[in-house]
Amino acid sequence: MKTGSAACIAASFGLAIGVQAKPDKANDLYLENCASCHGSSFEGGLGGNLADGIWKHGDTDAGIARVISHGLPDLSMPAFEKTLSGEQIRSLVVFLREKEKTTRTQASPPPQPKEGGVVKSSAHDYRIETVAGGGLKTPWSLAFLPDGSRLITERSGPLRLMDSDGKLLPEPIAGTPQVLELGQGGMLDVAASPDFANDGWIYLAFADPLDGEGEKKRGMLKIVRGRIRDHTWTDEEVIFQAAPDFYTTAGHHFGTRMIFDGGYLYFIVGERGGMLQAQDITRPNGKIYRVFPDGRIPEDNPFTGDKNAIPGIWSYGHRNPQGMTIDPRDHAIYATEHGPRGGDEFNRIRKGANYGWPVICYGMNYDGSPLNGGLTEKEGMEQPLLHWTPSIAACGLACYTGDKFPNWKYDFFAGGLRGELHRIRVQDGKVVADEVLFSGLGRIRDVRTGPDGFLYIVLNQPDRIVRLVPAE
Ligand code: HEC
Repeated sequence: MKTGSAACIAASFGLAIGVQAKPDKANDLYLENCASCHGSSFEGGLGGNLADGIWKHGDTDAGIARVISHGLPDLSMPAFEKTLSGEQIRSLVVFLREKEKTTRTQASPPPQPKEGGVVKSSAHDYRIETVAGGGLKTPWSLAFLPDGSRLITERSGPLRLMDSDGKLLPEPIAGTPQVLELGQGGMLDVAASPDFANDGWIYLAFADPLDGEGEKKRGMLKIVRGRIRDHTWTDEEVIFQAAPDFYTTAGHHFGTRMIFDGGYLYFIVGERGGMLQAQDITRPNGKIYRVFPDGRIPEDNPFTGDKNAIPGIWSYGHRNPQGMTIDPRDHAIYATEHGPRGGDEFNRIRKGANYGWPVICYGMNYDGSPLNGGLTEKEGMEQPLLHWTPSIAACGLACYTGDKFPNWKYDFFAGGLRGELHRIRVQDGKVVADEVLFSGLGRIRDVRTGPDGFLYIVLNQPDRIVRLVPAE
């Protein structure tokens, strides 16, 4: 069963690029119903400017939707509840949020750091330092080893080693698994065992090719562990692999991230374009998993009592999370996930919980058409702690645990493929700050606290790894 709409699949490759050039149903709705009074460039007319970030009649999504539905009878803003559906109104709200963000970004763009220059932010001033420049091709993830060396994945397959002197070795590790390099697929996450000094295990998460040639190639996320000896991958063991039936030709939404906590390995499998399958616990896609580091399933996982369920599942209803981290203070798991057009999420991951995709979502389809009724909340489904509309294309998430930036301790740093690095503070289970630290350095793939206490960022276009160091 394929439930992803063709438009959704096609556009999910493009992300920021080219979205405006495609037919845009929300834009059409706006032009037909709103532009006569609010202006075709949102500049206002009889009605006010709808892109300036000033919402006189309520600035929440619900408030804006209410004005569109019921109108403002005293001010000659018509009510649209009879002519537009709830989902169309929801997509207009998403659309107006996009315009608002564009205006705001133009008026006060986030800092665009220059190498060596000091960047100011609310809690710390910092500089950007390049750690690895030339020689990397689409780096995806970074893992630190106890001896000071680092492993870096490149999406086309290679696993690279940067030695403890910071030198990127030209030859990748020999003998790592074959990957399916298709769309968003390839060699993705790398993680070292928490007990690496004793057990030597390295974990790799990647798009695994099943069979077929060219367009018939099918893939699915797979996780293996192995050791590196003499610059060669050895002792490989499979930790997670889906049954062949679940491999598909879709080149998108593999996920993923891996984290360790409390003797468990947690990892993400994206929904692979099978939107509704994210709700189905008998299917592997659209889920976050908890297993023992050797792949065995803990008996107290939430769905082990259900014969038909996949027992490794920890939470479900996920679209395509590509950031995951632990808050070491209370061992809570946090993940960021890509929404469609709007509706990227920052979630606290709880045992057995349903994160709602695609039943509830704050975004719309890439073509500006509404999504599944425009529902954003539902009983029994989790609300995100924060959602980004428009999307930041969330990728990479770290809870900062270092000592170099004391005022950032235990804040969350969320990257985005559109280039923004967000600093998020959570207090008493609520987001109390979401600050854009910078933009414009490239697509952010991964964010990590280094053992040296600096904040590391893996970037694409241009491909490199940088770190934030204090400027004080
Ligand atoms: C006949 C003219 C007219 C049309 C058509 C119209 N509006 Fe309005 N709209 C107004 C007026 C007038 C106001 C009130 C402006 C004010 O408060 O100064 C308003 C206010 C609003 C507000 C509240 C703005 C704020 O500052 O809080 C929103 C949101 C809005 N309109 C959205 C829409 C959308 C979306 C459409 C199309 C579906 C639309 N309007 C169509 C005239 C119109």
